[in-house]
Amino acid sequence: MTKYTHPHGHVFYRKMGFARPKISHGEGIYLFDDTGKRYIDGSGGAIVVNVGHGRSRIANVIAQQTQTVAYAHPTMFTSEPAERFSEALAPIVPIPDARFFYMSSGSEVVEGAIKLARQIQMARGENGRTLTISRWRSYHGLSFGALAASGRPGFRQPYLGMIHDVPHIEPPYPYRESISGVEAANRLEQAILQYGAANISAFIAEPISGASMGAVIPPDGYWPRVRQICDQYGILLIADEVLVGMGRTGKWWGINHWDVQPDILVSSKGLAGGYWPLGAIAAKGEDVALIHDKLGDFSHGGTFSHHAVGTAVGLEVLRIIQEEKLVENAAVVGEYLGQKLHHTFSEHPHIGDIRGRGLFWGLELVQDRESKAPFHAARHLAPDIWKRAFEMGLIVYYSQGCIDGVNGDVLMLGPPLIARREDVDEMVGMLETAVNAELQI
Ligand SMILES: Cc1ncc(COP(=O)(O)O)c(C=O)c1O
Repeated sequence: MTKYTHPHGHVFYRKMGFARPKISHGEGIYLFDDTGKRYIDGSGGAIVVNVGHGRSRIANVIAQQTQTVAYAHPTMFTSEPAERFSEALAPIVPIPDARFFYMSSGSEVVEGAIKLARQIQMARGENGRTLTISRWRSYHGLSFGALAASGRPGFRQPYLGMIHDVPHIEPPYPYRESISGVEAANRLEQAILQYGAANISAFIAEPISGASMGAVIPPDGYWPRVRQICDQYGILLIADEVLVGMGRTGKWWGINHWDVQPDILVSSKGLAGGYWPLGAIAAKGEDVALIHDKLGDFSHGGTFSHHAVGTAVGLEVLRIIQEEKLVENAAVVGEYLGQKLHHTFSEHPHIGDIRGRGLFWGLELVQDRESKAPFHAARHLAPDIWKRAFEMGLIVYYSQGCIDGVNGDVLMLGPPLIARREDVDEMVGMLETAVNAELQI
């Protein structure tokens, strides 16, 4: 029998052949490994770290709350941090009289939101509504329910037959498809008519496409028309703000770039800035009341839901974002990042599209700018550029498959929201070096 010895002792990770350095500590926008090497965290890990690394005030909150009480089961107790965090979040989410349900990850809140939508429909007497429509090349997580919603063929493929088959529609993709936002949104209506409105509970989508497509901004007419369609057919709109929420795009929420309110919003990643595994589902007070009136309880939960330390951390992260005006910083420094990327890459022979908002930007790599032909997926261009940048001490995020689930390489920047212009200069300079080195330019 083969013994698995490589490369991390008794631990195994997702990418199994990659011998990763051992993390030592973090400070601001930097991470350091145990050899002393410095990395600029240009993507905040997986677009998570918004208030920077090494925040002692968050460490103090964790210590204090842990000493006071770390855990009490949510079916038996509420806690001061859970209630205070919710009170602070309510005015900033685009949901009237918002109520919050906390879990530990993006996947969990996505599944919770899908269940919540279903139960709102049941409470309305719409018992036949079980389906959730989502989009191809979306990412909503890898647990079975979230994977069913996710539109990444590569992640779904090993589990086909095990995951629930939900309808997916094509996402807007202005670089490769010049249709209006209304036309792109009308695909939702087509799917509703195809599957029957009476069978559909919700539509879930990322307001700005995140990890799979790399910061694709839909045309302006898209979200208002989606809202209209959902209202017309009695379908709940779930905004997956796990990646683009909490100030990342220069507004509190991605959906705030349009004058649209979802029925349910989910947040994670930046919600606790990487200091605690935390996710939140935000729902309308009236919908929560309806479930209570008609069904009694919300049929969902988890041992670690509404965690006292997690919600205390969330509250502290929110305070830091507000006190240091980090959403505003994301808008201003983000605009500079956009300009800098355009200045550096707009004539680059292999950068086809530069897109993003606030401090979340994507660069789509192409073989040829004229034809927009992608590199063959087997070339592993985005992962190889990622590796070069990592070796140089710059952390970026990447994806393959933004065009059709297989082809289409995209690199993403999403630094902590504390980043300054000089940090942007350094990051973009290093990224240019990594891209050109890999492409031998
Ligand atoms: C939009 C979106 N939803 C959900 C998830 C899943 O979150 P998690 O990895 O915390 O389960 C992600 C993760 O990247 C995401 O980007």
